[in-house]
Amino acid sequence: MYMKEKIRELCKQKNAVIFAHYYTRPEIQEIADFIGDSLALAQQATRVHADILVMCGVHFMGETMKILCPDKKVLIPDMAAGCSLADSCKAEDLAAFKAKYPDHMVVSYVNTSADVKALTDVVVTSSNAKKIVDQLPADAKIIFGPDHNLGSYINSVTGRDMLLWNGACHVHSRFSLEALLQLKRENPGVEVLAHPECKAPILAQSDVIGSTKALLEHTIKSPAKRFIIATESGILHEMQRACPDKEFIPVPPEITEGVGCSCNECEYMRLNTLEKVYNCLLNEQPEMIVDEQIAKKAYSSIDRMLCMS
Ligand code: 13P
Ligand code: SF4
Repeated sequence: MYMKEKIRELCKQKNAVIFAHYYTRPEIQEIADFIGDSLALAQQATRVHADILVMCGVHFMGETMKILCPDKKVLIPDMAAGCSLADSCKAEDLAAFKAKYPDHMVVSYVNTSADVKALTDVVVTSSNAKKIVDQLPADAKIIFGPDHNLGSYINSVTGRDMLLWNGACHVHSRFSLEALLQLKRENPGVEVLAHPECKAPILAQSDVIGSTKALLEHTIKSPAKRFIIATESGILHEMQRACPDKEFIPVPPEITEGVGCSCNECEYMRLNTLEKVYNCLLNEQPEMIVDEQIAKKAYSSIDRMLCMS
């Protein structure tokens, strides 16, 4: 039996459901029961009836799922699938920062550890950040973290003056402005779609700024046939599947000598492979476990987000 069939068979036997983020490998998206952005995956997790949830994405997504579904077994194919953005905000550093601004509330991007979410008043994703910040009291003093680019963008569209943490995603912050300008010259009139985790100069050159889901929906709805895309390239798989007659042109990253890979892929997301999905279902390992006290506090900030979305 092929690996994909073996995985689906195990899902049936064990009453398991597979979730995959849009940035995972195409073959992972193809075996998933649900694919989506961070918000959609969190919402969907609370609705499914299954004994086992397999989260193919990165560590914080598995944690979020376990916090929302404490009675289910949550597996993630590779515990080493981290996130440079989540890593840029350690709970102890945020606690020290909060102590300096005791009259501020904390709004955290979902790309954070459970420990950081436990110190947070309300979690947001790129899909709902504007909507949620707009609902906070007009005079609220706010710390926003960890993504500085997303925070600046939300400040600009809400007219807020949130105090921003200085974190970034290494994939989204490395798109090359020079290459984007060149693509625009070569493809006059073609819309540029960008994720708000990109740096301000990239966003300034973009026509549509939105979460992975918002960008995908735009490509489906728009009558245009070609798009320039500034986000992790995994999304191109679903864009191409949903719009087989359209063309998607990815913006390349800056090439920094000796650093990282020269593509716009998140290497953490790529750690999810069919073999690891199969093994984790077979052995029911690695299992996501979140400390109960932390999970309880983190639940409040995630639940507040779901209620305000
Ligand atoms: P969304 O899925 O919320 O668009 O976030 C993108 C991301 O970087 C996930 O790690
Ligand atoms: Fe984290 Fe960036 Fe990878 Fe998303 S793309 S998981 S923000 S490192």
